[in-house]
Amino acid sequence: MADVATLKIGETEETLPVITGTEAERAIDISKLRGDTGLITLDEGYVNTGAVASSITYLDGEQGILRYRGYPIEEVAKHCDFVETAYLLIYGELPTAEQLEHFRHSLRRHTLLHEDMRSFYNGFPRDAHPMAILSSVVSALSTFYQDSLDPSDPEQVEISVLRLMAKLPTIAAFSYKKSIGQPFHYPRNDLTYCENFLQMMFAVPTEPYELDPDFVEALNLLLIVHADHEQNCSTSTVRMVGSSNANIFASISAGIGALWGPLHGGANQACVEMLERIRADGGDVAKYVNMAKDKDNPFRLMGFGHRVYKNHDPRAILIRATCDRLLAKMDRTDPIFDIAKELEEVALKDPYFIEKKLYPNVDFYSGVIYRAIGIPIQMFTVLFAMGRLPGWIAHWKEMQASPSKRICRPRQVYMGPTERDLLPLEER
Ligand code: SDX
Repeated sequence: MADVATLKIGETEETLPVITGTEAERAIDISKLRGDTGLITLDEGYVNTGAVASSITYLDGEQGILRYRGYPIEEVAKHCDFVETAYLLIYGELPTAEQLEHFRHSLRRHTLLHEDMRSFYNGFPRDAHPMAILSSVVSALSTFYQDSLDPSDPEQVEISVLRLMAKLPTIAAFSYKKSIGQPFHYPRNDLTYCENFLQMMFAVPTEPYELDPDFVEALNLLLIVHADHEQNCSTSTVRMVGSSNANIFASISAGIGALWGPLHGGANQACVEMLERIRADGGDVAKYVNMAKDKDNPFRLMGFGHRVYKNHDPRAILIRATCDRLLAKMDRTDPIFDIAKELEEVALKDPYFIEKKLYPNVDFYSGVIYRAIGIPIQMFTVLFAMGRLPGWIAHWKEMQASPSKRICRPRQVYMGPTERDLLPLEER
């Protein structure tokens, strides 16, 4: 018997189909609701609303489960590097050794920016936030590749995917070099994706740069755990913009803008700023936990809470372990890491956080690792974007390939003034 939901509206009853996903998630299909009943649904923030059926990433917020194309994040982090993870998300299957080497080679062929793009950086003020630079330069890539912007042409999409994956680290590193007045350091094709980014960030022409394998390993993990997270705010933005058949550069640029917000990807920067504020204030963790609980106080514990996870964020667990290892290997203590651990301990015992199921999320510890690697705080969200790029690309491609694709155009319930007469200016 078909799975249905019955909706009683006044004296009439409507039956609506219920669909079930491969992980037994159930959803009421309301695609014919307005046509059949004249009613729409209302759900500010889409807390209860599924925008799409997707095959890319699965989350179970109650169990704290995250899987990329069916593979648990713990397994992907253990057995794959970031480029392999990106291949899995973008193309849907783990690559063979030959496919992976071809993908790595293809990325290496596209790491340079057109030299004319360097002038973009001269136009930004020295203290421009690198997320503003990233979204601007990514959007501007479309002006240099006007022959490959057609979302319906698989070859044009493929070359754009390679250009985006290959050039984002270069764009990001150049924005950092710009901000500190150092010469841009060009990509090197003899290095891995993460090695190359670190040398573009920190190498200077005046002396050799020695890569720290622990930093490379930590960066690789951070990019992997950020690679996708189903219909989060920035990914939904990429899908929304792409649904108008805007090119992939414009769509990814919009996603970067959405990610920048402190409630989303910007939380990693906001979290470290919060930890530094607590440290400067004498490390009084309880004071800030109480502020976060105070309904009259807008302060929130950045890096805590999640729309989906009502259990531990599996990424935070993976990251926390790396934090411990990295700081121990470096024989370094980081006062904000100690504060983070104390804050976590206090908050997780507090009835407010327990009742609201607020746990540390991926942004809570990522900033501590970025600091340990030497990444400046304004670049934290840029690294989140670098990690999330394959996820954005995978969702954009899935949306474009969907046989039921339509432009995203939500409805609304109007609550403004009803019709009224307009008095001309001379009578007002
Ligand atoms: C990311 O969607 C994703 O998957 C995102 C992400 C990804 O990989 O793409 O996982 C990445 O964005 C992680 C989240 C990073 N943001 C932060 O750390 C910012 C701090 N957290 C929040 O502002 C909040 O928890 C959100 C934005 C993450 C979630 O917001 P929701 O789901 O809209 O929940 P809410 O704001 O309605 O909060 C529910 C309750 C509220 O209290 P009541 O109104 O019920 O009394 O919990 C409280 C909130 O006041 N609450 C917090 C809190 N987060 C929620 N109270 C104190 N500190 C917090 N951090």
